[in-house]
Amino acid sequence: MPKIFLTGATGYIGGAVLTRLLERPFDITILVRSAAKASLFNETFGKKHSLKAVVGSYSDLKLLRELAGEADVVFACADADDLAAAKAILSGMRDKYSETGVAPTLIHTSGTGVLGDDADGMHASPSIYSDMNIEQLETLSPDQPHRNVDLVLVEADSQGYVKTYIILPSTIYGFASGPLVESGLQNWRSQQIPRLVDVSLQRGQGGMVGKGKNWWGNVHIDDVAELYLAILDLLSKASPPPDFAHGRAGFYFAENGEHTLYSVGEAISKVLSGMGKGSSTPTTFSDKEVRLYFPGGTSLGSNSRCRAERGYKVGWRPSRKTQDMLSSVRGEVDASLSR
Ligand SMILES: NC(=O)c1ccc[n+]([C@@H]2O[C@H](COP(=O)([O-])OP(=O)(O)OC[C@H]3O[C@@H](n4cnc5c(N)ncnc54)[C@H](OP(=O)(O)O)[C@@H]3O)[C@@H](O)[C@H]2O)c1
Repeated sequence: MPKIFLTGATGYIGGAVLTRLLERPFDITILVRSAAKASLFNETFGKKHSLKAVVGSYSDLKLLRELAGEADVVFACADADDLAAAKAILSGMRDKYSETGVAPTLIHTSGTGVLGDDADGMHASPSIYSDMNIEQLETLSPDQPHRNVDLVLVEADSQGYVKTYIILPSTIYGFASGPLVESGLQNWRSQQIPRLVDVSLQRGQGGMVGKGKNWWGNVHIDDVAELYLAILDLLSKASPPPDFAHGRAGFYFAENGEHTLYSVGEAISKVLSGMGKGSSTPTTFSDKEVRLYFPGGTSLGSNSRCRAERGYKVGWRPSRKTQDMLSSVRGEVDASLSR
């Protein structure tokens, strides 16, 4: 059984992955920022599941290196963009390799935001990226979101001391569930759709960037978590499928359908108008609204189109589709209202 180190345990993605790891007899260490949550993890899941929560953050680079250096498999689910943290994790994994002569595995969380363009909701892009087309992925600028970290991982893999698998989720939707959520330890909601719902509730009308003509992939949180576990399972297979790649080719999109921003804005608008708020047709966010509601700028209006072909080739079978994402909007509105 591999020794596992996981970051982001209290998060939407990391918690969903950890929930599944806890169903198996692994020796797991997690990094948790909140001391209170770390204690609760240790009390509730520590002994029964061989889980150890250590208090710390991605700023504690020495600790990060140490914990990564003790693991056979690291799941990095905290922050796709923290380059210093990624380098500290890699340093730990290099230490592990020096000690054992066996390259440990890093399963890292990136995102399909790396594919984003500047459409601002005004047009659909014809560019659809496949994770089986490495040459196409390598046309991406190093300045694209997440890409600087992903490239450092690929370079580390090429040096032979670590095997890197990079998972790139698209728009994740659905409520995370399980014992971590029930214990109040895990964030159970995603980011993009809940944010759109919150903004729509505040302005009393479903909205979109530009004309909402841009496309993004979507994937349910349970299907995303299953992709991490599918990769973990393949690590111990004597003859994994030929497309089970790491390093340069080890990119795995998580997607099972795509949608326009308009369709999400419309789904939100229909729910809200049924409650007497606004019309059932989404309206464009004004410049003032974009500045107010999305102060760091928004990638909501970009195109991020991809096909998760590698995961499929190695046995991942996501089950929920775009219609499930659109149907999930009603629950998101209820969740925002009851918060
Ligand atoms: N949700 C999506 O649709 C989606 C899609 C593609 C990519 N991603 C990327 O995946 C990553 C995780 O997303 P998520 O949706 O799971 O977010 P989330 O629910 O906010 O979870 C983030 C997790 O990382 C931890 N964390 C954040 N910063 C940290 C730091 N500096 N040191 C240690 N731990 C830290 C958080 O701990 P606390 O509980 O202490 O805050 C939490 O456990 C993000 O980088 C996100 O951009 C998300």
